[in-house]
Amino acid sequence: MKILVVGSGGREHAIAWKLDRSPVVDELLAAPGNAGTARIASNVDVDAEDLDGLLRVAKEHGVDLTVVGPETPLAAGIADRFRAEGCAIFGPGREAARIESSKLFAKRLMLDSGVPTSEARAFTSFREAAEYVRGLPLPVVVKADGLAAGKGVVVADTRDEAVAALHERLEAKMFGPAGETVLVEECLVGREVSVFAFVDGEHVSPMVAACDYKRAGDGDTGPNTGGMGSFTPPSFWDGELERRVRTEIMEPVAAALADRGTPYSGVLYAGIMVTKEGPRVYEINCRFGDPETQVILPRLKTDLAEVMMCVARGGLQDARVDWGQEAAVGVVVASGGYPGSYDTGYPIDGMSSVKGAAIFHSGTRADERGRVLTNGGRVLTLVSVGPSVDEARRLVYENTARIGFERSFYRTDVAAVA
Ligand code: AMP
Ligand code: GLY
Repeated sequence: MKILVVGSGGREHAIAWKLDRSPVVDELLAAPGNAGTARIASNVDVDAEDLDGLLRVAKEHGVDLTVVGPETPLAAGIADRFRAEGCAIFGPGREAARIESSKLFAKRLMLDSGVPTSEARAFTSFREAAEYVRGLPLPVVVKADGLAAGKGVVVADTRDEAVAALHERLEAKMFGPAGETVLVEECLVGREVSVFAFVDGEHVSPMVAACDYKRAGDGDTGPNTGGMGSFTPPSFWDGELERRVRTEIMEPVAAALADRGTPYSGVLYAGIMVTKEGPRVYEINCRFGDPETQVILPRLKTDLAEVMMCVARGGLQDARVDWGQEAAVGVVVASGGYPGSYDTGYPIDGMSSVKGAAIFHSGTRADERGRVLTNGGRVLTLVSVGPSVDEARRLVYENTARIGFERSFYRTDVAAVA
C-alpha cells in the first residue's frame, strides 16, 4: 500500500511512524510533513489545506489511502472530495466533522441524543450574552462556535473576564466568523481525559484514554497551548468508566450522526470531564489529539494501516483493534515564548544521545546540510514506553534533559500524578 499522511505536526509524524511499521505499507508520503516525517516518508510540498493539490498528489502517485491529521481540511470537506473521486480516505466528511467545526452543532446533537454534557446557551448578541452571564454561577465557560486553533475557549473566574471574552468574540470579532456565535457553558469540575475510538460509520472500536497538559507552565499555570505533554493510561480509567463512555457517549454520538444520514468515519475524540456524577463531554473532535497520538499509537498492537483501511471502507466489526497494557509518557519541547511569539531556525542539540525514547517532530525543518532546525512553537515530543506510568516518566525525562536548543523549554510535571 501507498499511504499519504496530511499534516505537519507531531501527531502526523507519530501516525507515519506507526504506518511505517506495517508490513502492508510499501511507501509513505507526507504533505507537507516535517524533518521527522522526511526520514520515513517522501515529503511533498503541498499545504494541508490545499484540497485540490492533495487530490492531485493522491492521484498522481496512485495513493491507496489518505490519512488526514488536522481538523481544518476535514471541516473544509476533504473527505467528501476524495470519496467523490473514488479515493479512499481516513476521516469524516464535512457534515460529520461539524461535531468539531461547530460547537453549537455538537451541543445540540449531544443534548438531543441524551449524551451527558455541560449545559450551554448560544448567543449572537453581545448585549444578551453579557446580561445572561451576570446571573450565572462562576466560573463560567465562553466558547467561540467555530474552529479557533484551540484558542476559542475561556474559562472565566470572574464576570468581567466572561464579559471581556464575549466582547472579543461578538463585538471585536477577534475570531472572525468562528466567533459570530458563542456558547456560554456551565463549567464542569473533575478530571479531564481524552478518549479515542475508531468509527466506520456504524461500529465503534475498543477505546483508549490519555491525559493532556494544555497549560504552558508547571502546575497548570500560564496560557493555554496546543498541548505540552500527555500520558496513558490514566490511573482512574477503569472498566466501569470505559463502559459508561462507550454506551453513554461514543455509541450514541456515532448513532446520531448515522441517523442524520451523515455517518462518521475516522477517529472520534471525546474530551471528557469525569465528574462526581460520571463522565460528561466538554468537547468532541473529529481527529486524533496532539500530543495524545504520540503516546497512544505506541500502545496499538494491531496494524494501523489495516485498521484505517477498515474504517475507510467499512467493516470495522471484523477487524481487531488491540491496545497493549503498557504505559507511555510524552513531553513536548517548545520554543521559548510559545504560545506567544517565538523565534525559529535554531539547531537542535542532543538528538543522537536519546536512548529509550522516540522523538516525534512537530515544528522542525532540515537545512541544506541536513541539520534539524526549529520551525514552530511546539518542536518535538519525546515519548517513552514502560510497564508503568512512573517508569515511562522516569525514562522520558532522562532523555528530555539531553535535548536542547536556544530558549527551549518543557513542563517537568507531565504524568507526575497519574
Ligand atoms: P478546548 O479548546 O475545547 O479543548 O477547551 C480548552 C480547555 O477548556 C479544555 O481542555 C478544558 O480544560 C476547558 N473546558 C472547556 N469546556 C469546559 C467546560 N464546560 N467545563 C470545564 N472546563 C472546560
Ligand atoms: N490535545 C488537544 C487537541 O488535540 O485538541
